[in-house]
Amino acid sequence: MKKEQDSISNMEMSRRGFLKRTVLAGAAICIAPTFEKVTAAEKAINGKSVVPAKIPAILATVRETRTLGDGNAAFTVSAMGFGCMGLNHHRSQSPDEKACIRLVREAIERGVTLFDTAESYGYHKNEILIGKALNGYTSRVFVSSKFGHKFVNGVQVKTEEDSSPANIRRVCENSLRNLGVETLGLFYQHRSDPNTPVEVVAETIKELIKEGKILHWGMCEVNADTIRRAHIVCPLTAIQSEYHFMHRTVEESVLPVCEELGIGFVPYSPLNRGFLGGMINEYTMFDPTNDNRQTLPRFQPNAIRQNMRIVEILNAFGRTRGITPAQVALAWLMNKKPYIVPIPGTTKLSHLEENLRASGILFTPEEMKELENAIAAIPVVGSRYDALQESKVQK
Ligand SMILES: NC(=O)c1ccc[n+]([C@@H]2O[C@H](COP(=O)([O-])OP(=O)(O)OC[C@H]3O[C@@H](n4cnc5c(N)ncnc54)[C@H](OP(=O)(O)O)[C@@H]3O)[C@@H](O)[C@H]2O)c1
Repeated sequence: MKKEQDSISNMEMSRRGFLKRTVLAGAAICIAPTFEKVTAAEKAINGKSVVPAKIPAILATVRETRTLGDGNAAFTVSAMGFGCMGLNHHRSQSPDEKACIRLVREAIERGVTLFDTAESYGYHKNEILIGKALNGYTSRVFVSSKFGHKFVNGVQVKTEEDSSPANIRRVCENSLRNLGVETLGLFYQHRSDPNTPVEVVAETIKELIKEGKILHWGMCEVNADTIRRAHIVCPLTAIQSEYHFMHRTVEESVLPVCEELGIGFVPYSPLNRGFLGGMINEYTMFDPTNDNRQTLPRFQPNAIRQNMRIVEILNAFGRTRGITPAQVALAWLMNKKPYIVPIPGTTKLSHLEENLRASGILFTPEEMKELENAIAAIPVVGSRYDALQESKVQK
């Protein structure tokens, strides 16, 4: 590891001058969880008590920005975003609303400017929560949401998709209302709709951009050919697909086409739904009412047991460098390409801090190779999706 990117001199925080200039001392990751405490710590430092002056540590923040897309489609956001889904959907633990709002606002204060949600995360439930959390903050951040799943009376029809122009417009209006924003930063097609040609989708999006309802658009889990067809009609800002150490399919043709066309890439589930963070094992119980991981082949106990060898590689690599397996996984993604902006999700301030710190970790090409070679030697057990979900990706 070359160094942490602490070189952002005098902590000049990025956009619109909104981020606090905050210097703290002591163990960095054990920072006080509220800004009241931060202020107290600042006072202590200013008063020259408590802390050895030469070892300042900095609040865990994401201090850099990255640009997704090119030309008119260019969209500059924090180098790491926040995946909001798990706050109240599909990740078992769901803190109460106030705690979720506090965490989202903490992420804002720490430099995150991209928050990712979707209509389908609890059918508006997640968007409404994020709308509450962003109330009063919408001039400082962007939200991405998604359309394309089919719902009847609030229940998802899992065998069908709906990217008809009428449905795209319906979802857009709902998302704007739920989120309390006038414009969505990014609007993604969640999955391809075999009944609506991608050109029709792109034309509809073009209209929504002209109407000022969305700034930019993207697509999830599409193949290189679809990306090219869509991009001709309305330039894409980002592709959002699964990408992490245990699922690298996008390296074959999706990342090359993104690079060729100047499209950004947003890896979802960058910790493989928490697995690469090392806190899940074969005995982990998922909430039967609020966690889709128990339905996924890769999260069955036998697969988890065998795949633990991958976490062990991350542990071994991180141990000598003082970084956690989650940080190794996130830093690896961010070191892969400068147009990659991961969106890890968490319900915990400690994990938010840990993850944001990964945005400042640089690996040498030799370290990247060492990690990739070690992990490539271990076969991944279990597919990432069930057969139905698998039939809807890479379209
Ligand atoms: N486009 C799509 O089709 C699609 C599909 C899935 C997800 N997404 C997006 O991607 C975002 C993230 O995906 P995800 O939630 O599936 O997966 P993820 O970000 O890979 O993992 C989230 C899980 O990891 C745990 N975690 C987070 N930081 C950790 C750390 N430092 N150490 C240990 N565990 C940690 C979290 O638990 P704690 O709460 O305990 O931290 C949570 O259960 C979602 O919020 C959503 O916006 C998009």
